[in-house]
Amino acid sequence: MSEPKPNNATLGVWLVGARGAISTCVAYGLAGIVEGLSEPIGLVTENEPLNQLPLVAYENIVLGGHDVCCRSLNDSGSELVKSGVLPAGLVEGAAKRAASFDANIVPGLLDGPDVGFADLHPRSAELGSAAPMEQIQQMKADFEAFRKEHNCDHVVVINVASTEAWRDECEEWASLEAFEAALAAGTAQPASTVYAYAALSSGCAYINFTPSRGSSIPALRELAEKNGLPHCGSDGKTGETLLKTVLAPMFKARALRVLAWQGYNMLGNRDGEILNEASHRQGKLQNKDEALRSILKDPDMHSHVAIDFVPSLGDWKTAWDFIHFEGFLGAKMSLQFTWAGSDSALAAPLVIDLARLAGLALQRGEKGVMKHTASFFKAPLDGTTHDFHAQYTALENYAKG
Ligand SMILES: NC(=O)c1ccc[n+]([C@@H]2O[C@H](COP(=O)([O-])OP(=O)(O)OC[C@H]3O[C@@H](n4cnc5c(N)ncnc54)[C@H](O)[C@@H]3O)[C@@H](O)[C@H]2O)c1
Repeated sequence: MSEPKPNNATLGVWLVGARGAISTCVAYGLAGIVEGLSEPIGLVTENEPLNQLPLVAYENIVLGGHDVCCRSLNDSGSELVKSGVLPAGLVEGAAKRAASFDANIVPGLLDGPDVGFADLHPRSAELGSAAPMEQIQQMKADFEAFRKEHNCDHVVVINVASTEAWRDECEEWASLEAFEAALAAGTAQPASTVYAYAALSSGCAYINFTPSRGSSIPALRELAEKNGLPHCGSDGKTGETLLKTVLAPMFKARALRVLAWQGYNMLGNRDGEILNEASHRQGKLQNKDEALRSILKDPDMHSHVAIDFVPSLGDWKTAWDFIHFEGFLGAKMSLQFTWAGSDSALAAPLVIDLARLAGLALQRGEKGVMKHTASFFKAPLDGTTHDFHAQYTALENYAKG
């Protein structure tokens, strides 16, 4: 195989939720790779044939972002050192690069005036209750200032903020015209849609790694098409759902009947704490169940997913699944698995992969949903299949051209 073509463009990666666990791992992880302190393990874009794509070089990625809290990146890093996710040597060795990222983090937009966060930035609280047009203006100005200051050829905005409370679909999301009329009339919208609107109106690609609405609503899909910009989401597939979408096709292919699939998840970090609230958990539970149902297509299958917050686990999540199934002559059998992983170490490399793929899509002028990235998400926007193997083949085919 020939050497990949070098891509010397500067890619700005704007993380919404920049002081969170995933962003912290992205920042220290990238710095570690560039400084030669870490290996790019867990990065899908290092696999053949993806590594033949002219993706941006790691050293040409500049990080910036929004957050609503004031916690320093150094403190977020220390938390992850304590949890045993980040090596202390890496945090020390990458301190300079991490500090330059910290300097590029500005106050974000709180999702409504009533959301409580420790260390809340006063400007974020103010923006949370501002009119939507004022919120959008501020977000666009932040993206533009970052692009200019760092001479970015392209900018990718990635949502890795806390999961928002679930909102049922509403009429104004059905078209761009209706959405823009609602914005102009001052109707409050979920923060994730405001960030996505601002990004897609500022020439940026948009990626939604969370279960929040983001660019999934029809109005914003329309905006991406209209402005010729790529976007993808929703909700990173890093643990239990990854295994579900790998194993369910096997049951299907062997004509084994799944009678019941029970999933129990324990999360210990800030994300787990937020998901402990029923209204924030709803989107995540929906995505986990929908993936299974769409692959097995059996309305009689019993399934249940639960998420509990277990503070002592820190960044380590555990998923325990019990699958009861039936084989030839009605023989009943079962499979159980336990998946114990570091939430942020699983997610961060995928965020870097997605940023590089979106950077390439921008460079190539690709617009609309980045269908080839479906394997990264629990609820892919292309809506075709949840089968991991089929999704990954689509990604390989994209790379082969
Ligand atoms: N870790 C995984 O494997 C995984 C998988 C799929 C999805 N996700 C999602 O990724 C997101 C981030 O996860 P995390 O573990 O880094 O969470 P985290 O709680 O450590 O970080 C989230 C950050 O977002 C900030 N924030 C909250 N509301 C904001 C807003 N409106 N604007 C800007 N910043 C805001 C918080 O202050 C916090 O610093 C969550 O929504 C989570 O559900 C994570």
